[in-house]
Amino acid sequence: MKILVINGPNLNLLGLREPDIYGNSSYEALVSFVQSVCEKEGIEVSFYQSNHEGDIVDCIQKAYGIYDGIIINPAAYTHTSIAILDALKAVSLPAVEVHLSDVENREEFRRISYVSGACITTYAGLGFEGYRKAVFCLKQYLFENQKI
Ligand code: DQA
Repeated sequence: MKILVINGPNLNLLGLREPDIYGNSSYEALVSFVQSVCEKEGIEVSFYQSNHEGDIVDCIQKAYGIYDGIIINPAAYTHTSIAILDALKAVSLPAVEVHLSDVENREEFRRISYVSGACITTYAGLGFEGYRKAVFCLKQYLFENQKI
């Protein structure tokens, strides 16, 4: 089983960025966290972070035929990007949406997620733990659908 974890704009600044909302841990710490969860589960994992919408679309397109599933935190593009939604639909890989913060209980505009239309489920407001849950969700989904 091979999964790809995609993080969108400004998530490279975790730790520095609004720590009251996103915590004090860095992007590198997030990568190590997910890496260790996957290692314990025998799952191969790759990471991609970009501040550019089109680059995220390219990354999703290239995932086709290589990865079994995608974990995506599209960050601000969650609330704006039909292109990312369409890319996820196009490759039709099982995807799980993650947000570190509780997007439902922040500004009104964060309640809209375009990408959720192409995702199995969403974990929000759980910090790094949301990514761990997403790994397990994908594993379970792939097992149930006999893809692993
Ligand atoms: C975020 C929530 C988004 O609304 C925001 O634009 C982000 C991060 C989260 O992880 O909580 O950049 O996706």
